[in-house]
Amino acid sequence: MKSLLFQLILASFVLLNSDNNVNAGVTSVFVRMEYPSKDIPLDNEAFAVPTGHNAPQQVHITQGDYDGKAVIISWVTADEPEASKVQYGTSKGKYEFTAEGKMTNYTFYKYKSGYIHHVLVDDLEYDTKYYYKIGTGDSAREFWFQTPPMIGPDVPYKFGIIGDLGQTYNSLSTLQHYMESGAETVLFVGDLSYADRYQYNDVGIRWDSWGRFVERSTAYQPWIWSAGNHEIEYFPYMDEVVPFRSYLQRYPTPHSACKSSSPMWYAIRRASAHIIVLSSYSPFVKYTPQWEWLREELKRVDREKTPWLIVLMHVPIYNSNDVHFMEGESMRAVFEEWFVHHKVDIVFAGHVHAYERSYRISNIRYNVSSGDRYPVPDKSAPVYITVGDGGNQEGLAGRFSDPQPEYSAFREASYGHSTLEIQNRTHAFYHWNRNDDGKKVPTDSFVLHNQYWSSSSRRRKLKKQRLSRALGRIASY
Ligand SMILES: [Fe+2]
Repeated sequence: MKSLLFQLILASFVLLNSDNNVNAGVTSVFVRMEYPSKDIPLDNEAFAVPTGHNAPQQVHITQGDYDGKAVIISWVTADEPEASKVQYGTSKGKYEFTAEGKMTNYTFYKYKSGYIHHVLVDDLEYDTKYYYKIGTGDSAREFWFQTPPMIGPDVPYKFGIIGDLGQTYNSLSTLQHYMESGAETVLFVGDLSYADRYQYNDVGIRWDSWGRFVERSTAYQPWIWSAGNHEIEYFPYMDEVVPFRSYLQRYPTPHSACKSSSPMWYAIRRASAHIIVLSSYSPFVKYTPQWEWLREELKRVDREKTPWLIVLMHVPIYNSNDVHFMEGESMRAVFEEWFVHHKVDIVFAGHVHAYERSYRISNIRYNVSSGDRYPVPDKSAPVYITVGDGGNQEGLAGRFSDPQPEYSAFREASYGHSTLEIQNRTHAFYHWNRNDDGKKVPTDSFVLHNQYWSSSSRRRKLKKQRLSRALGRIASY
């Protein structure tokens, strides 16, 4: 019955849209900005400080290892440097285990951060709900998270994709709609707090408010971080010249588990997906550490175990908006050939404050002396999706290039978020959901066919495997 239902949903999706269709693209004339592009005032309840002396705040978790059996739990205590300790267990209120981590703090101009705690909780069971407690006495707080199922080729899993979020009422709408989606993990494509739009001590204060703002989700499920330009914070006039300082202090990533030399670029495996996070603002040309690491990481991808290969970056490689046009060209020149060779399924980016989806196209035959100088349809290429429409204070990027380039399938200047619902090794459902008068409205959707398993020889092999398993089950009755 379940599989019949899946077939029906799939058939209706295929009728609607599919990643292999190359039709004239759609520029949606709908523009939706519900609220002014202004940050929510600091005294708003969206940024409420938890009650109790030194109560943990800004709680967030991310995956802590390569395969999903660990989380890093982070939080801030504003007043005192208490122990970085997490108590946890599989029953609410019964905490059989304890993990300890480390504490850090930093100054930014004259702002002094609170005490930032990071604790790795590892050796967890797959597919298990864990409850955890941080803080002490009356100020202690309790949360929970669910570990992913064991890595496997047909493990269903639902990811959310959010970018350029900020802390406006539009951001709040995006966050609330995302939380209604039932997705289990956020793939965040950079530009977190937009604290760098402030000056002097307000920069640190707006990092803190953003941490409290997103806690409603980040305390309960992992957000997989990537950095954008708003994380750079290069401010010589304040003597702040070390890039990404606030971001790196606050948002750790499991980079050492995948042999990356920097928290700015790394990879994780989760359920049936291999997720690669790249840094648009770290060196990536040939022979740089990021380039060397990616070359090796792509060799480690095993599509028999994790069929879905997803790349996150901040600056889109294909973007037909007037804003940030061609900014991803340098990374395209370096990495696009690898993406096509390794049959990356989908590349998510942010940066442009609008939504756009490409067809499967590539421009790898271009070189400076000869060859095609325009993206051409390419079945081995990823779908490129820009989801920089979280809702920050800079507002929407409303001017698209006209006419719409052939590579662009759908584009709209509204706020929202995406979900990617993996069904099995061959199919996933993708949605972009617009924020529309307080409602979440699915606006763009298609069926994503897995790049590796869609090759005809592998499909035949898979059919044979499934048939022999079915026959085995019949024989065992
Ligand atoms: Fe950006």
